[in-house]
Amino acid sequence: MIERLNDFYDQDIISVKDFDKSKFEKVFSATDKIMKMDPNERRELGRGKTLGYLFFEPSTRTRLSFQAAMALIGGSSLGIADVSSSSTKKGESLADTVRMMSIYSDVVALRHPLDGSSRFAAEISQKPVLNAGSGTEEHPTQAIQDLYTIKKEKNKIDGLKIGIIGDLKYGRTVYSLLYALSNYDVDVRLISPESLKIRADSIYEIQKKLSLKESTNLDEFIDELDVVYVTRIQKERFPDEEEYQKVRGSYKIGLDIVSKMKDNSIILHPLPRIDEISAEVDSTKQARYFAQAEYGKFTRAALLALVLNEHDL
Ligand code: NCD
Repeated sequence: MIERLNDFYDQDIISVKDFDKSKFEKVFSATDKIMKMDPNERRELGRGKTLGYLFFEPSTRTRLSFQAAMALIGGSSLGIADVSSSSTKKGESLADTVRMMSIYSDVVALRHPLDGSSRFAAEISQKPVLNAGSGTEEHPTQAIQDLYTIKKEKNKIDGLKIGIIGDLKYGRTVYSLLYALSNYDVDVRLISPESLKIRADSIYEIQKKLSLKESTNLDEFIDELDVVYVTRIQKERFPDEEEYQKVRGSYKIGLDIVSKMKDNSIILHPLPRIDEISAEVDSTKQARYFAQAEYGKFTRAALLALVLNEHDL
């Protein structure tokens, strides 16, 4: 009998749109297994394998959690965290840089400011490419981590009321999260300044699958939300600094806002935060954004293990 290979084996992870509910659930159950696994057994999953990372934009959590994830499954990682120290500085193309990385590693994680960059890299690379953030378009591994966090912290995803707050125009985590949530039965509330509403082409697509309402006023929804997903205003993506100045600091989650939230609600944030959640909120029971960052290590370990191994975990 020929055993079926796991669906992720040797595959790129470029967009959440390529996922259905069963694929998410498969990553979640692999994550549960990875968390509980005997460390020696876990280190077999990536033994002798190398992750190559190419980060053309700053990162703390995504890059480090990919590296920590690879170490967790017994593999190693190498890469470029600052392109100014690479041959990109001399004018080498993205295509050649990706080609080189795919020779030196078994799986490539790419972060790049251009939409379409990961899809392009996947065409060139001899090894699977994992999108670690492409322009304003998508951040699929973050969405997987976000959904897993909701599932762990709320014990379910279906039936929840989820508010997404902040920069809904330029925040790529928002798009991946919304595409991912489209597979579930959830109510979504989108709260942003008028100029940072979800892009028209995407809202059209998302509205077909998700029940959602938009507002500029956080107070309108705050007391009914189960999940409050806060995002950073993406300063670097504004074409005009003046436009950024108009919306900076639009929403600030402080203790006053937390006191209006449901007692068992949770606050998430992909991080980094600038001033949208005040430090005093960190010690409230609703604050789950650091736990969310920790789950990211395990969801990425599960993804890497699934991509690198023929069979299910
Ligand atoms: C996010 C990103 O890079 O899109 N960060 C992350 O990966 N956790 C969000 C952001 O930069 O605001």
